[in-house]
Amino acid sequence: MPDILAIYGSPRREGNTSVLLKQAVQGARDAGADIEEITLRDLKMSPCLEIYGCLKTGRCAIKDDFQSLYDKMLSAKGLMLASPIFFYTVSAHTKILMDRCQSLWVKKYWIDKMPEGESSPTRLGLFVSVGATKGKRLFDGTLLTIRYFFDALDMKLWRALLYRGLDFKGDVLKHPDYLKEAYEAGKDFNRALKGDI
Ligand SMILES: Cc1cc2nc3c(=O)[nH]c(=O)nc-3n(C[C@H](O)[C@H](O)[C@H](O)COP(=O)(O)O)c2cc1C
Repeated sequence: MPDILAIYGSPRREGNTSVLLKQAVQGARDAGADIEEITLRDLKMSPCLEIYGCLKTGRCAIKDDFQSLYDKMLSAKGLMLASPIFFYTVSAHTKILMDRCQSLWVKKYWIDKMPEGESSPTRLGLFVSVGATKGKRLFDGTLLTIRYFFDALDMKLWRALLYRGLDFKGDVLKHPDYLKEAYEAGKDFNRALKGDI
């Protein structure tokens, strides 16, 4: 199993968030990390059906591509996730993944009976996002969602790379400083996972 999972949550291939996440992946790889990249758009994944087939074991009962992702998410030390802002939250592909992780929430809080607010995760998450507009509160709702998503995975949000004013494919390429920041964040993420920073 890889040290880090990098999950591309945009439906657009080689879009702005994907370019940024690729930079972070490259940075972490150059720092020695073993990373597996997953593009949600390529998976067959049902939304959560709220049947609570996960109640006994914490494992989702729907048999589709989420199953192998579940094992990887449980074993990875770090998770990089990229999603564009769609209607002030994450993309539908990303949200489907999140809702399927209710099984992990069930495992943590109902099966393993972790008291809320008392876990101190050592596994880390890096979130990358982009929106077309420039409002001060553009990422507010999404960040709340992301924090609780990582918490369900028993991970802590380590850093969020958030960029405004990027709309069309390739817009991010006009900002070499954003690309460099993402690359460096990937490097630092690997160091943070090793406890070096
Ligand atoms: C369905 C849809 C909804 C969007 N909603 C928002 C939004 O609420 N706020 C915003 O600033 N940009 C919004 N955008 C623009 C995207 O966030 C922007 O184009 C971004 O660069 C896409 O990233 P990607 O290339 O990684 O997919 C939306 C785009 C689409 C297609």
